[in-house]
Amino acid sequence: MKNIARYTVTAALPYANGPVHIGHLAGVYIPADIYVRYLRLRGKDVIYVCGSDEHGVPITLKARQEGIKPQDVVDKYNKIIKDSFQKFGISFDIYSRTTNKTHYETASEFFKKLYNQGDFIQKTTEQYYDEEVKQFLADRYIVGTCPHCHNENAYGDQCEKCGTSLNATDLINPHSMVSGSKPVLKATSHWYLPLEKYDSFLRKWILEDHKEWKSNVYGQCKSWLDQGLQPRAVSRDLDWGVPVPVEGATGKVLYVWFDAPIGYISATKELTKDWEKYWKSADTKLVHFIGKDNIVFHCIIFPAMLKAEGTFILPENVPANEFLNLEGDKISTSRNWAVWLHEYLIDFPGKEDVLRYTLCANAPETKDNDFTWKDFQARNNNELVAILGNFVNRTLVLTHKYFEGKVPTCNQLTDYDKQALAEIPIFKKNIEENIENFKFREALKSLMDFARLGNKYLADTEPWIVYKTDVERVKTILNISLQICLNLSAACEPFLPFTASKLKSFLNITEFGWNDIGIKTLADEHKINKPELLFAKIEDSEIEAQITKLQNTKLANEATNISLEAQKTNISFDDFCKMDIRIGKIIEAERVPKTKKLLKLTIDTGIDKRTVVSGIAEFHNPEKIVGKQVTILANLEPREIKGITSHGMILMAENAGGELVFVSPEKDVKQGSSVK
Ligand code: 2FM
Ligand code: ZN
Repeated sequence: MKNIARYTVTAALPYANGPVHIGHLAGVYIPADIYVRYLRLRGKDVIYVCGSDEHGVPITLKARQEGIKPQDVVDKYNKIIKDSFQKFGISFDIYSRTTNKTHYETASEFFKKLYNQGDFIQKTTEQYYDEEVKQFLADRYIVGTCPHCHNENAYGDQCEKCGTSLNATDLINPHSMVSGSKPVLKATSHWYLPLEKYDSFLRKWILEDHKEWKSNVYGQCKSWLDQGLQPRAVSRDLDWGVPVPVEGATGKVLYVWFDAPIGYISATKELTKDWEKYWKSADTKLVHFIGKDNIVFHCIIFPAMLKAEGTFILPENVPANEFLNLEGDKISTSRNWAVWLHEYLIDFPGKEDVLRYTLCANAPETKDNDFTWKDFQARNNNELVAILGNFVNRTLVLTHKYFEGKVPTCNQLTDYDKQALAEIPIFKKNIEENIENFKFREALKSLMDFARLGNKYLADTEPWIVYKTDVERVKTILNISLQICLNLSAACEPFLPFTASKLKSFLNITEFGWNDIGIKTLADEHKINKPELLFAKIEDSEIEAQITKLQNTKLANEATNISLEAQKTNISFDDFCKMDIRIGKIIEAERVPKTKKLLKLTIDTGIDKRTVVSGIAEFHNPEKIVGKQVTILANLEPREIKGITSHGMILMAENAGGELVFVSPEKDVKQGSSVK
């Protein structure tokens, strides 16, 4: 193991084309934040670098859809994203942007160096071009019929129905997702990084020298290498991005995945003039935190770029996480299936640590995992409130009650006391080892076990009972409990920074770092502050509100997917006038015997009271609909239905769930009012 003098920790630059959600936090920013907070607490030289990824085709499309400029899109989302991260205590040393001047300069210089060294090859190929919007189309923006399974909505890079990886030219009947028009093939020339030339370097560096990488990361790299690397285009035909800095490259920009990782370097340049030591010194440990969809870019392409450039260090580790699902379904921005951070902050003010805790406890470290609101509630109520919060609160309240808020003297220790105190350095070591090995769930479990120890110590020693007979013994018990609180205030800092600072203020301390755990103690007579609750219970109603919100999203999505009937042939106004549509009121309703679907209704139409048979029994309870105003087609030819003559038809609409719902007036109207 090399001597480590400093750490450069990067977290994937989120695209600035939408807000961030719990999947981002769980997969990347919380684990990275725990790691850097821990390193800082240990007094290490560490920088935590991130920023918005502000280039790429999706941003240009979003701008087009909204009728604004790409710069407006990224300005808007950069602000929202940065604000959410800051409010969740994600402690970046810098949160930059890839539209900054320093980044343009850094990315251009990087490209030029490789270009001048002759590291690129230039190739002309035929690519799909949308003549309507005058733009080459990324494969993702072409849809057509899959040649394998005949799915009509296959993308130019993949058919999501049969899973086959495609080239846009494989699609039958391709059309542009941007304008809907049929794209044409057009020759275009680009620069490519011949990745295959780096094959033996990458094989040795990853497969031999980094066997310790997480198995999901190592496995994905091995599979890419085994499939055989191909030249990768590093430029695109687009008017949004870092212009390709060579002559004859008008209208061409750097591919977003070429410039984005260089963004880590540009951000470091903005952070410190000493940036080179964080990127060029062999005794710096570079760690990239990312999601699994970014593995190839951070483990193969960016390292090949860095290797070609020649003056940079390579990552020591790339602890990529798998994906977080939400209530059993894949998180999706387009389907709005997500818990958005900016919305959570409004719905659960002051509960930032609760989400940090739940997402870390459930992090998709080795496999995809699921976030559920019920689990969120249980983690808060049964762990944070019942264990950590309860222990701290009882200790501090009893100290105030019995000893005027002053740390009592520790008298003679029992074996049980000694055992409890001896656990502290063991928990510390356990948390350290797990964090250093990127096992944040395990580390958090250890932290909660540490709090559990305190809670059990207090429950077992029962100071509230012993106080009646042996005040000296209670002094020892509370002294030990307070020392455990003190140690917890540092141990929880990487995971729960807001809780740590509250706890420190309750204990009235400022200086207590990681290295003090198990060593420094609160002095006798040290005055502590009046505590408040560390955590509050989350009620069922709060959880139900979130679940309802998601159910509504699902319904809205289903509604968008309902296949609508094509419009019928036109009718004349006279034809329309022939229909007598009016508002009536249901005055009686009963099931038609021996049928599942039919209700016999008596309708007050204003002109008469008549019987109508309606096929709505599966969706409406007869008792509940009496008194309801409905719309009736009154002059429909009477019909015999199950031996009953029906005089008209009640108008209904089908909702997303396939239910028939009444078409009722927005406000009460007089019975018999015509609908026109
Ligand atoms: O997947 C993403 O959200 C990308 N914007 C990540 C970029 S990471 C880095 F290379 F900048
Ligand atoms: Zn297919």
